Amino acid sequence: MLSKADNERITRIGPGTAMGETMRRYWIPALLSSELPQPDSDPLRLKLLGEDLIAFRDTAGTPALIANNCPHRGASLFFGRNEENGLRCVYHGWKFDVDGTCVDMPNEPPESDFKHKVKATAYPCVERSGVVWTYMGPGAAPPLQTQEWMRVPVENLDVCRHLGEANWLQLLEGGIDTAHSSFLHRNFKRASSLGTHEFRARSTAPKLEVVTTEYGYTYAGIRPLRGEDRSYVRVYQYVLPFHQMRAFEGYLGHPLISGHIWVPADDETTWIWSWTYTAGGESLPAEVVQAEKRSSGRLPEDASPGTLRFRRNKDNDYLIDRQRQKTVNYTGIDVISAQDQAVQESMGAIYDRSQEHLGTSDVAIIAARRLLLQACQDVEEGRDPLGSRLQTITVRPAEMVLPSSEPWHAAMSAQLVAMA
Ligand code: FES
Ligand SMILES: [Fe+2]
Repeated sequence: MLSKADNERITRIGPGTAMGETMRRYWIPALLSSELPQPDSDPLRLKLLGEDLIAFRDTAGTPALIANNCPHRGASLFFGRNEENGLRCVYHGWKFDVDGTCVDMPNEPPESDFKHKVKATAYPCVERSGVVWTYMGPGAAPPLQTQEWMRVPVENLDVCRHLGEANWLQLLEGGIDTAHSSFLHRNFKRASSLGTHEFRARSTAPKLEVVTTEYGYTYAGIRPLRGEDRSYVRVYQYVLPFHQMRAFEGYLGHPLISGHIWVPADDETTWIWSWTYTAGGESLPAEVVQAEKRSSGRLPEDASPGTLRFRRNKDNDYLIDRQRQKTVNYTGIDVISAQDQAVQESMGAIYDRSQEHLGTSDVAIIAARRLLLQACQDVEEGRDPLGSRLQTITVRPAEMVLPSSEPWHAAMSAQLVAMA
């Protein structure tokens, strides 16, 4: 459990809050590059860390994130004219470049120097791996940190973004909770080629081991296989503040590495980023992407194009089918993302963690909260939070079946290293 005060401290992310200020020390994925398809394409509304922003791409192709309200009298720049390297407010014509500099103020006399005194809030952006990243913190942005999925060729990679309807920490905690996969995602009919789904169904009380690192932690869910002298070990990576990586046997014989990033839109809604790439270095076949998206519920038709809200959502109980719950899978909910969201969103927008009863299978969650509280304290005391200045994350997740007496960390050390 967490005290109510600590719960508030690490869930709230608006400007000036402890976690909000901490999160702003890390690079944040803002939107897909394809959402701003060409120079001078249409401006988009984007809520990020409780701030209303407008995304646009200027004439040179540079992506930008600027505060929604025009600094003059607050009209939304969503209605702006995107023209000749800047976004022009349609109310009185003030124009801003990608840095937020006011480059034209046509309703003031030419001799006025007022425009040099006005600046819109704008956040620096860079593009990598089909994603526009932004830095919303104070001072100069550090170099963009990369994980392995951001270093592979884009043909090996699939990335998408959707809306989750609960606080970011609830969703993150679902992603670093290996124990739930034995239940929530159990499918009575699914047989996987490597048997990992069966291992999770057979061995439902994993022993968790967490190893703290310079970026967050590595943790293993160790599942002894009854009647055998072997254990199924699934190793995850948690990268502060909101990244998860997990190993996966993949589809159609292509092992995949996947992960999520849970970025707060505001305190009660979250951008769920999902990425997948081929672990073997080959390009990602379209049919593998299709299979992955079908089972996870991330096909284009699974979400509304404008809002990125899933079609299976809390308003329709995620399309639960009670008959299928008896015969097909544990939940009666068809796809993995909806299974996760049903339980995570059902806790309420921000769960009061002082009401929890945590057990031994929750140690990874407890460790993440500790790291986040420490990161908040570090920022308040003038230090860089854990991992925020690391340029390269050099680890992978992995899964293996090992002799039960063999320590996983040593046995899997080669599998846990990423390509440079
Ligand atoms: S409100 Fe934008 S120019 Fe006046
Ligand atoms: Fe899950």
